[in-house]
Amino acid sequence: LNKEGLRHFLKTQDYTKKELEDILHLMKLLKDARHDNAIPQLFKGKSVAMIFEQPSTRTRVSFETAATLLGGHGLFLSPKDIHLGAKESLEDTGRVLSRMVDVIMARVDKHETVAGLAANASVPVINGLCDWLHPTQIMADLFTMVEHLPEGKKLEDLTVAFVGDATNVCSSLMFACTKFGMTFKHICPEQFKAPQEWVDIALNNCETYGGKLVITNNTDEVAGCDIIVADSFYWFGQEDEKEVRLSTFIPEFVVTEELMAKAGKDAMFMHCLPANDQRECTREVMESSNSIIFDEAENRLSAQMALLVYLTHKFIEEPTEAVR
Ligand code: CP
Repeated sequence: LNKEGLRHFLKTQDYTKKELEDILHLMKLLKDARHDNAIPQLFKGKSVAMIFEQPSTRTRVSFETAATLLGGHGLFLSPKDIHLGAKESLEDTGRVLSRMVDVIMARVDKHETVAGLAANASVPVINGLCDWLHPTQIMADLFTMVEHLPEGKKLEDLTVAFVGDATNVCSSLMFACTKFGMTFKHICPEQFKAPQEWVDIALNNCETYGGKLVITNNTDEVAGCDIIVADSFYWFGQEDEKEVRLSTFIPEFVVTEELMAKAGKDAMFMHCLPANDQRECTREVMESSNSIIFDEAENRLSAQMALLVYLTHKFIEEPTEAVR
């Protein structure tokens, strides 16, 4: 909670399962409204400041479009244009922006930057990706899983295998999938496995919600999984590790048609994109009928619409008699 009693969206762990389900429900309503060309103007006259320390296609376009579709406005701010921790502290930037806009969204190099912006902000601050987490991506991912649920299955019945490096998408999926009671497998080389701190968070979720966590370097573990997820083998700031990373992950941890066949004929393929095809996954897998990567990308827009609405409105727990 920030000082005004509004909430930031820095990590899904700050939200209960029920609250995340509410956001998913809002995503469905707003996605349907978009298809009906009837989006309620729930961000009318409001603005979201969008700070980007790193490049972005999906996050930038989805937030700016979401604000516009809901009747509001998005401002693109690069560190070249504003005083982001250089001439002005992050805390003061958060305070100043809060006097002018209704939401701050920041894609940053370090989690401390988005946390610093949130520290004194009196409007909701959204983490648009940091070195640790990518929570808005994961709302789109959960929603995409719901849209593609196998016949007769619920979210908690799914087994999700993340094949590759312990990226920010890996951590966020690990936390969200275990919070929803799913089985989450991280399949990776020993030296790139998730830190113990993440494992502890996920195991705590498993204890509370009944999910299961598997950490393994055995790619045969994809067998029987419902969803196979790939992500980049190296990220910004890891360029000097590029050669060692690529030679460690390739070819064993590349999601190929052979690996998907090992998973099973109904296993679906997800990737947050952008993908380095022929590196962490093949173009054939990306283009296969089991690939849901472009649905996943489109759902970023539904997630951002829902978050802008959810974070700027107060919701009552249960409908009152008068509105029931
Ligand atoms: N998935 C994702 O965050 O994409 P962008 O880097 O294009 O925003």
